Amino acid sequence: MKRIAIIPGDGIGVEVTREAVRVLETVGDCFGVTLELAHFDWGAEKYLRENVTLPEGALEMLRRDFDAIFTGAFGDPRVESNKHAIDILGGMRFGLDLYINFRPVRLLNDRFTPLKSGCRRNIDFVVFRENTEGIYVNAGGQFKRGTDHELAIQEEFHTRHGVERIIRAAFAYAREHGRKRVTLADKSNVLTHGHELWRRVFKIVAADYPEIEARAQYVDAMAMLIVLDPGQYEVIVTNNMFGDILTDLGAALQGGLGVAASANLHPGRTSLFEPVHGSAPDKAGQGVANPIGAIATVALMLDSLGYSAAARRVEEAIEAVCEAGAVTVDLGGTLSTAEAGVAICQYLRR
Ligand code: IPM
Ligand code: MG
Repeated sequence: MKRIAIIPGDGIGVEVTREAVRVLETVGDCFGVTLELAHFDWGAEKYLRENVTLPEGALEMLRRDFDAIFTGAFGDPRVESNKHAIDILGGMRFGLDLYINFRPVRLLNDRFTPLKSGCRRNIDFVVFRENTEGIYVNAGGQFKRGTDHELAIQEEFHTRHGVERIIRAAFAYAREHGRKRVTLADKSNVLTHGHELWRRVFKIVAADYPEIEARAQYVDAMAMLIVLDPGQYEVIVTNNMFGDILTDLGAALQGGLGVAASANLHPGRTSLFEPVHGSAPDKAGQGVANPIGAIATVALMLDSLGYSAAARRVEEAIEAVCEAGAVTVDLGGTLSTAEAGVAICQYLRR
């Protein structure tokens, strides 16, 4: 039995999480996977009402009482500072030391990619995004704010420990999954301190994996090549900021943000699973959000909990509804969020 904390969050996060839960319940019924779900109302609404973001003691509770955390999305136009999202999402990523942001990019169906047919072959890679440092540490400050001479500093942190563990995770994954090439994305031609460290450590770690080709690319070139020739990528490893940007690009190639899944991992510890997309306040409450990103995220979570067979079945169900066109409007279908979730569950029950 595994215990899962469910945090729907804001906007369409609530709607897609409902479908993710529907799939988890179906998986429980059909495949003998025993899951106990507990819901938490952390998000903009609670922040505005009670001035609470991540409640006191939350991280300890999650670590102690849960095997995994599933979350929808955070962000609400009423919270201009985005404080609640930074506290809750950033708080869990950093506070639980979830140093791997794992984001697979796989084209589910040829119809979904915006690329011309010649480029479509082999859109199938995974991104290992460093998730606990980089420019996301929020170090810096503002000086003479609001004047003509104001100054803003936003600092980027890279530790040997942090860089090495994400690069090792990428190579270990490649070895375990029969991937033959790992590509580092950096900007070491300009960021000669921080990104030179990445390049140096990349070489050192690569030496432990002689059977895997280790290649480094500048991130600007990579952004171009991911569009022109995505088939060359198998595993990409990169820092927090570049990983954020490249995975939105990757999501576009595989069918849009609505289908992209992600896992925030620290092997052996309680990890966090969330679709890549945000809360999309302009689409919230209309039943138009695509639940596939959230449901593909459920598959990642099941896999990480050791229920690999059930995870495969969920992935197959997603592929089947895509093939049948039983999908939401963003993918050319006509279904609502709930109908698209039900379609996947019907396939699972067959
Ligand atoms: C993501 C998101 C987040 C990030 C935001 C919501 C803080 O864009 O998960 O990719 O930048 O990491
Ligand atoms: Mg992002």
